[in-house]
Amino acid sequence: MTLSISRIVQALEPSATIAMATKAKALKARGETVYDLSLGEPDFDTPAHIRKAALEAMESGRTHYTQSGGIPELRRAIVDAYRTTHGLEYAPSQVVVSNGAKHALHNVLTVLLDPGDEVIIPAPYWVSYAELVRLTGATPVIAQTEQANNFRLAPEAFRAGITGKTKVLLLCSPSNPTGSMYSPEDLGGLADIVLEKNLTVVADEIYERLVYGDHKFASFPTVRPGLPERTVVVNGVSKTYAMTGWRIGWAMGPASLAKAMDDLQSQQTSCPCSISQYAALAALTGPQESVGQMLAEFAKRRDYVEQRIAAIDGLSCAEMAGAFYAFINISRHLGRKYQGVQIDNSAEWCLELLSQQKVATVMGSAFGAEGYARASFATSMANLEAAFDRIEKFLKQ
Ligand SMILES: Cc1ncc(COP(=O)(O)O)c(C=O)c1O
Repeated sequence: MTLSISRIVQALEPSATIAMATKAKALKARGETVYDLSLGEPDFDTPAHIRKAALEAMESGRTHYTQSGGIPELRRAIVDAYRTTHGLEYAPSQVVVSNGAKHALHNVLTVLLDPGDEVIIPAPYWVSYAELVRLTGATPVIAQTEQANNFRLAPEAFRAGITGKTKVLLLCSPSNPTGSMYSPEDLGGLADIVLEKNLTVVADEIYERLVYGDHKFASFPTVRPGLPERTVVVNGVSKTYAMTGWRIGWAMGPASLAKAMDDLQSQQTSCPCSISQYAALAALTGPQESVGQMLAEFAKRRDYVEQRIAAIDGLSCAEMAGAFYAFINISRHLGRKYQGVQIDNSAEWCLELLSQQKVATVMGSAFGAEGYARASFATSMANLEAAFDRIEKFLKQ
């Protein structure tokens, strides 16, 4: 008997980042040394005080279902942290804690969208956005950005993508995959159009604390009055506290939307993991030194990667203001042979780089930008040095 898979799931593209990481892991399992720049997660351990809070939660019997939208203490800690950093007041009931920011995004899009609605997504975009939109039956509308403009959506390009069906603008700042970030002025320009056209914004701010140099992060709802009523902020502990495996993220927005997400989640997963929620509470309310230490290490790697890219003929990248990715323009190295193998696009380039030099990156096409490769610098300096030596060797053939 052949099982029939639903049309909506058959149409789903599996995550290319996870696919590249799996290929790299398979090579490693065969005993090969792989220089893995495909991963989107900090290579640090979760700080000790957070791990301890999880142990204490287990030992003290906090091992049962919790409120579907998350424990009140964590929701309170989330709104407190937001008010302290960004000066806007939300009620804890406006937050729904989920199994990671990816799950939070799925919830947000599910409660906001009907089949036929359109969502504007600036490209290059994070691999999951378009697929999560498609799962709701809505249509992703990709708005192109330019490397010369640090991959920020220009107001004209945004306006050009709007139709009578547009419901949501999905913004990611600082960006995965490009590392670019919107200034308050940039966000203001987009916000004016959002307000004029009566749209909703989903602001993925998961990299908000991973910002370099003089760059200042601005949270979308803060840039104009009227935005908190039409914005959902998505965030989580995965990147800031090296907690990817704990699966805690959240969405915060208008009360009616939070209620809808809470209802959805109550039927879908009951609640996020109780132990992880106590760990996330310790992350938000405990000492923050580890965040600065990890950031300082990422900053060193960022500077190193920037300098290596600049020194290799024909490569370039936009300014990396935040997150931990370099989105490398490889277009000048396409359309030629590498050890006899013709390479015409970013997927072929990344696969051949892995096969010939054992360096794992992710093809730009997975992020809606042909001619690029994403290299994560959430890996050790030694790994970065070896990987860039090999990229240089690969290109010099
Ligand atoms: C832009 C962006 N949003 C959301 C997520 C999901 O994070 P989480 O681990 O909280 O699901 C990621 C993880 O790679 C990301 O890069």
